[in-house]
Amino acid sequence: MTDTAIDTGPSHTAVTGPPVTTRLHLLPQTNRLRSLHTVIRDRDASRADFVQTSAQIFRLLLDTALDLLPVTTRSVRTPVGQTYHGLRPAAPVCGVSIARAGESMEAELRAMLPQTRIGKILIQRDRTTKLPHLHYAALPPDIATSQVLLLDPMLATGGTALAAIALLREYGVFEEDIVFVTLLSSPEGISAVHDRHPRVRIVTSAVEERLNGDAYMVPGIGDFGDRYFGTDQPR
Ligand code: URA
Repeated sequence: MTDTAIDTGPSHTAVTGPPVTTRLHLLPQTNRLRSLHTVIRDRDASRADFVQTSAQIFRLLLDTALDLLPVTTRSVRTPVGQTYHGLRPAAPVCGVSIARAGESMEAELRAMLPQTRIGKILIQRDRTTKLPHLHYAALPPDIATSQVLLLDPMLATGGTALAAIALLREYGVFEEDIVFVTLLSSPEGISAVHDRHPRVRIVTSAVEERLNGDAYMVPGIGDFGDRYFGTDQPR
């Protein structure tokens, strides 16, 4: 699939979703998490520290996201001959990363769930029309019956997230089967997603104060992709 304009729908819908507390999952702001945030928010952090610390937060986010997915019972025999009445995922789980920044979250998901298939979407804003443009999508064939973890570390204006969710909906994925996993989010981005897709759940490690005039989150971490992949300009 190449160069397709994405219709992200009207700006508001009348659909009523679950209460906000069950669709926005903010990680507990523990001292440990705040220490990790301090590393990645530091403009002088080395790239190695930025990458390694981001990965630790991705683990926490993915753990929380996976815990939201439906489970079914599964009993196993333990080595001492007892039955343990346990659980297993009720549906296949797949990751979908939004390139480029979302690719940074793939390794942690793969490490946690080695069988998981990971799709990829590349969406870029057209410089002239300012509309999100789909450049590339590769998604697992059974995505419509999967639980989808949509991966993008930055939820800023929400434009890319809306385009990605619209694409997943075109592939037959239900809103309630999408969990958007993001490191930092803005109030504007959260509202944009929930105004249009009230049943999509968002898991995030921080809700920032606001967006600045350049659509960066503040206090924020700057450009995630540039810092992660080392393409930032020297100061
Ligand atoms: N993308 C980023 O990388 N950082 C922001 O603050 C907003 C969007």
